[in-house]
Formats: sequence, C-alpha cells, structure tokens
Amino acid sequence: MAENTLRDKVAVIGGGAKNLGGLLSRTFAESGAKVVVHHHSSENDAQETVKAIQDAGGQAVAVQGDLTKVADVRRLFDTAVDTYGGVDIAVNTTGMVLRKPILETTEEEYDLMFGINAKAGYFFIQEAGRRLNDHGKIISIGTSLLAAFTDGYSTYAGGKAPLEHFTRAAAKEFADRYISVNTVAPGPMDTPFFYPQETPERAEFHASQAMGNQLTHIEDIVPVITFLATEGWWFTGQTLFPNGGYTTR
Ligand SMILES: NC(=O)c1ccc[n+]([C@@H]2O[C@H](COP(=O)([O-])OP(=O)(O)OC[C@H]3O[C@@H](n4cnc5c(N)ncnc54)[C@H](OP(=O)(O)O)[C@@H]3O)[C@@H](O)[C@H]2O)c1
Repeated sequence: MAENTLRDKVAVIGGGAKNLGGLLSRTFAESGAKVVVHHHSSENDAQETVKAIQDAGGQAVAVQGDLTKVADVRRLFDTAVDTYGGVDIAVNTTGMVLRKPILETTEEEYDLMFGINAKAGYFFIQEAGRRLNDHGKIISIGTSLLAAFTDGYSTYAGGKAPLEHFTRAAAKEFADRYISVNTVAPGPMDTPFFYPQETPERAEFHASQAMGNQLTHIEDIVPVITFLATEGWWFTGQTLFPNGGYTTR
C-alpha cells in the first residue's frame, strides 16, 4: 500500500509563486514535500516563495517557463527529476482570465486564452503522465464557471472546459500506475486575478451567491488540493467544485 502523505514527495507546482499556487507551494513544503516552484513572469514572488520554504527548513527550487510551449513544460519536469530524482505530485494552477463579449473577442485573444488554459493544461497532464512515479497525483485548476450559465467568459470558462475531459481521459489512461487525476474548480477567489475583470457590483453579486456572502479564499482551496494529493487518492477523473455553494451540477 503506497503511503499517501506529502512527506519526502516531490511536487511540481505550475504557477507556484503567488496567490493560490504560492500558498500551495508553502503548505506542501511544510508537510515535508520538496517543491518545484514554477513561475512565468513572477520571478520575485518565486524567489520569495522558495526563500520562505528554505528558511523554514524545507526544500524548493524555482523554474521559469512559458507553459504554452511544450518544450518549457518538459523542461519543468526535467528540472524536478534532475534536482530531486523523480516527481510524485503535479499541480497546474496556471490560467488567464478575460471577460469580454464573443462579438468583441479577437483571434489573438482566443489563441492566448486557449494557449494557457487548454493547451498548457493538456501538455502539463501529458508530461506529468510520462514522468510521475507510480501512485502519483495530477491536479488541474479549473473554475466554478464550468457549472454556471453566464455571459462574458466564453474564452475563459470555454478555455478551462477541456480540462475536465483531459482529466477523465488521463485518469483512465494512467490508472494502471495508480495515478489519480482530478480537476479542482474553485469559486471566484479573492485574489488580484479576479477583480480587474469585474465591476464592484458584479463582484458583490458573485460573493452573494456563496455561503456567508463571501468570495472563495485560497485558504479554502489548498486543503482540497492537499486532500486529493494525499488521503483523497481514491478520487480520480473528477471535477470538484469547492465554492461555498456558488454553483453546482
Ligand atoms: N481568482 C479567481 O477568481 C479564480 C477562480 C477560479 C479559478 N481560478 C483559477 O485559479 C488559478 C490560480 O489563480 P490565482 O487567482 O491564484 O491567480 P494567479 O496567481 O494570477 O494565477 C495565474 C497563474 O498563471 C500563470 N501563467 C499565466 N500565463 C502563463 C504562461 N504563459 N505560462 C506559465 N504560467 C502562466 C501565472 O504565472 P506568473 O504570475 O508567473 O506570470 C500565475 O501563476 C488559475 O488557474 C485561475 O484560472 C481563479
């Protein structure tokens, strides 16, 4: 029976420098995981996260990469294997949001949104499937908008939607190695990612749809991801909606 804890496991965190990914990197390290902290443009945050982990006695390394480029996805996993000898857990928190009517969306915006939300998500799962040790865990971050009927988020929710199907297929294809594959789809989260797309009134409305009239907090999501990466290994092929009741299906 495999030990489903974080102790001495190697975790690759896509977008692991700040916000949700940053808290995840620190939390995994506190539980004894060696963490590969990926970042794209947030180099200072990545250095800060790695330093905080090391100062607390943990192990971490930062890796830059544009995960819309398959070569960069591969290099990220190469670094994990070269540095720590293997990979056990891969969490992809990367994403990009755009709230714009379909009639105004450009080809460039479509390609950008699907590049990071869908293509990067696919090749992250592919490379994780190639490189993870048996009993590994792969977790992608979706959005609770996948369970909503709303305007404006065609390329964001639409770009994240394929993650569910990539997850299902990968869960079947990697099952013979006991690798669990899931998507976590949080409600609108109280991070700088969310606010620029919304008016204060709409932000208030989003909050009003969850228990206690509040947005989702990254502290609510990290335990869900941690559970899937440990004792929750029996979940596979699923999309979970931790969102205080904001949307469901
Ligand atoms: N905040 C919300 O309302 C909300 C709600 C539900 C789901 N989510 C999802 O939760 C995840 C984390 O979001 P967050 O709120 O914590 O915001 P965030 O920190 O801004 O997360 C976005 C991440 O995507 C990375 N990224 C963007 N383009 C990239 C590229 N080309 N290559 C590699 N990485 C790239 C960013 O890296 P750099 O900063 O290094 O560029 C950043 O780490 C995202 O997938 C988001 O879609 C967010």
